[in-house]
Amino acid sequence: MSGLYLHIPFCRKRCTYCDFHFSTTFENYRTDLIAALGQELYFRKNESQSALRSIYFGGGTPSLLHEKELQSIFKEIHQHYELTKDCEITLEANPEDINEANLKAWSLVGINRLSIGLQTLSDGDLQWMNRAHSVQDGIRAIALAQRFGFENISVDLIYGLPGLSLDFWRHTLKSVLELGIQHLSAYCLTVEPKTALNYMVRTKKLQPANEVLQSDQFMELVNQAQMHGFEHYEISNFSLPGLHSKHNSSYWQFLPYIGVGPSAHSFDGKMRRWNIRNNTQYTRGVGKNDGWFDCEILTPNELRNEQILLGLRTKWGLDLNRFSTNWTKKESAQIEEFTRLNWIKVQGSTLLLTDIGKLHADGIAAALFRLD
Ligand SMILES: C[S@@+](CC[C@H](N)C(=O)[O-])C[C@H]1O[C@@H](n2cnc3c(N)ncnc32)[C@H](O)[C@@H]1O
Ligand code: SF4
Repeated sequence: MSGLYLHIPFCRKRCTYCDFHFSTTFENYRTDLIAALGQELYFRKNESQSALRSIYFGGGTPSLLHEKELQSIFKEIHQHYELTKDCEITLEANPEDINEANLKAWSLVGINRLSIGLQTLSDGDLQWMNRAHSVQDGIRAIALAQRFGFENISVDLIYGLPGLSLDFWRHTLKSVLELGIQHLSAYCLTVEPKTALNYMVRTKKLQPANEVLQSDQFMELVNQAQMHGFEHYEISNFSLPGLHSKHNSSYWQFLPYIGVGPSAHSFDGKMRRWNIRNNTQYTRGVGKNDGWFDCEILTPNELRNEQILLGLRTKWGLDLNRFSTNWTKKESAQIEEFTRLNWIKVQGSTLLLTDIGKLHADGIAAALFRLD
């Protein structure tokens, strides 16, 4: 088993762009939900065939967990799962939660990697995003975590924001890449249905960057990251050599993982499983050991399609020894066309996206999908 994901569905505030699963009113039931998480860890102990290489606390906002809650979760993990010696243990931390007491608690339980949601270097943007921190809070939080001894820090940024100029994005990238961090995740703003951002866009209060500007910002990201010695190992992810996220890489490399907590997904090589996206129903369901998840066995075509979709996103690409042996005529013609457009390239026996191709990743993968 490569990884364990724990979804912590609590947030202090509702960010305008976010459609991940979380609640902002959780104080009445947080203890029960953490107990259910522990119970799920116990139920699923036999799914892990080998030692865990990574553990990832995602959310929601895992940095809202109290020290005692974290300790109780780790007690369950250590009781029922084996960890490799160099197990990567990541916690997604919001800047406003990064203080000496929390850093101490996190390092005592074994967290050795932080993913810090900075998002932007503009206080104006943080305001319409409804974030709970300022730019200065974010920069200070990173410095404090570094002084405290965290040596593996990732920062999340979002580009394609309303009004974000190429110049300001360049300044943001340069400033962030010079903070002494090891990893950067940068996502293009997606306007998700049913979010406050969607409403703001529909009512013309905000207008996200157009596609050309978003593409230019992506290219700037690729160039700046490279200039600062960061390796572009997945479309939205960059790291100093050797410091890519083991956990997220296991998703992209199609390795098995267990996901616990409401809305968490799992994959065992053949089957996908997803937990219910509702905190109360999850807690009750786990309590009764009934009705808190669904699953499906992937067909051979579905497995193949996912491998293409995920593989093409990474620097490891698609192994042609496994995929090209039986391309259909139509698929071969597509590949020729994408090569002519300079969207894909072959290196040895690997099919890779070019930087321009990365802007069309989903479309390229979809053209190679097979339907049942
Ligand atoms: C779901 S959040 C969890 C981490 C943490 N709560 C935080 O806010 O930093 C993970 C990351 O997804 C990204 N994200 C979430 N919604 C997005 C959207 N609509 N468009 C682009 N990026 C988004 C943000 O960069 C965020 O840091
Ligand atoms: S972006 Fe993070 S803090 Fe904001 S609502 Fe989503 S999960 Fe919560």
